[in-house]
Amino acid sequence: MTLDLALNMIYVVSAGLFIYGLKLLGSPATARRGNAISAVAMLIAIIVALLDQSVVDYRWIIGGVIIGTIIGGLAARLIAMTSMPEMVALFNGSGGTASLLVGWAALSTHNDTFSVVTIFLSILIGGVTCSGSLIAYLKLSEKMSGKPIIFSGQRIVNSILVLAILVCGVMLTIDPSNLNYLYAVIALSVLFGVMAVIPIGGADMPVVISLLNSYSGLAACAAGFAVNNNILIVAGSLVGASGMILTNIMCKAMNRSLVNVLFSGFGAVSTETTKVEGEIKPISVEDAFYILEAATNVVIVPGYGMAVAQAQHAVKELQLLLEKNDAEVNYGIHPVAGRMPGHMNVLLAEADVPYDQLIEMEEINPRMDSVDVAIVIGANDVVNPAAREVESSPIYGMPVINVDQARTVFVLKRSMASGFAGIENPLFYKDNTRMLFGDAKESISGLVREFG
Ligand code: TAP
Repeated sequence: MTLDLALNMIYVVSAGLFIYGLKLLGSPATARRGNAISAVAMLIAIIVALLDQSVVDYRWIIGGVIIGTIIGGLAARLIAMTSMPEMVALFNGSGGTASLLVGWAALSTHNDTFSVVTIFLSILIGGVTCSGSLIAYLKLSEKMSGKPIIFSGQRIVNSILVLAILVCGVMLTIDPSNLNYLYAVIALSVLFGVMAVIPIGGADMPVVISLLNSYSGLAACAAGFAVNNNILIVAGSLVGASGMILTNIMCKAMNRSLVNVLFSGFGAVSTETTKVEGEIKPISVEDAFYILEAATNVVIVPGYGMAVAQAQHAVKELQLLLEKNDAEVNYGIHPVAGRMPGHMNVLLAEADVPYDQLIEMEEINPRMDSVDVAIVIGANDVVNPAAREVESSPIYGMPVINVDQARTVFVLKRSMASGFAGIENPLFYKDNTRMLFGDAKESISGLVREFG
């Protein structure tokens, strides 16, 4: 057996492990194992890639491994859970940049037409992912305005950009030795990444992060073709495809089409005209306790504020006390609650909340009218009834958890501030809503003390 064949067979094993790992990631119960198996697959792929005869100097690789390990380790330790989407954005950008560099380097050794086309694709998608992710990072971390940036003639400018990239790509394929075309493709792709992400903002950002994640996979896949590395092709396609599937799920969860997300600018088409009626009715911890004590069916709906307050352990304590008091307790989980996919699941798993008590939106909504008390913990947009009731609202049509249909709703938040989408929430003014103002962890701990 030749060395090449042996290496490719090991690549097949690691590709199989990637797919199995991905499958396990589909359920919270097996996700950790899935992650570990995928990591082992990646280690195998890296070792095998390093045995490749075309590696002539290991010094740069060792330097890269050391720097990458330090950055990854520090990021994982230091970055707060609430800043995870920004970190994911930066990591997507790194993936895109790496593919761009691989494509660039490959041009010195591969100049047949097929290779140059794949090099062009890896530079184009990598460049767009690199700068697009950087803009997404700046928006999410509020280092620049999170609002969509839209100007007249934007689509024409973007169309001209795309045309220019394609022309330079064709010229590069015809004459790969003329590096000016290469530099032009790099510069235009990076510029296009900026132009593609600036018109997107507000609640559409998570979709963009997921889309950029998918692009980073596609860029890696193209880079795999460029340097003729099978595992890079397979792993890139897996990232590309799973990112696309997640993007699709998120679009559905927000009732937005991808075209809408990419080209219309969140909230830019309709201005906020939600008229709120009714008045705010604050409630004290003591009074909330009396109502909860009498409840037999309670649904807890967590949102971003639970992550900010780190209230998940206190919430679990309250759940146990309610159950001891003979109430049935479930959690209503919205697919885009928090700031990243699965955000609430991760937090609640950390507090050992059983998975079977986490009920998805489609399943919990039909049961909402038989619920005695819905406790909304730091959620806002994902429980906003304007999505059903106010046609002019930017979130109109987005599926939400219908907590307002419960007999009583407690909303735990610190003030009347709006959520991520920056819009009014008529829920707070409904007859059956009581506002329990304060930090979510303190309010929940107060309720726990009352039960104790
Ligand atoms: P949001 O609509 O962002 O509302 C969170 C609420 O939590 C705020 O109104 C805030 O009100 C409250 N809060 C903050 N800190 C708190 C604390 N310490 N104690 C109590 N309350 C606190 O959250 P959501 O309902 O989870 O909706 C998620 C939004 O983010 C959606 O618009 C979604 O599209 C978007 N988004 C989602 C993702 C993913 S993938 N999940 C990623 C990015 C963006 P106060 O300031 O008054 O306390």
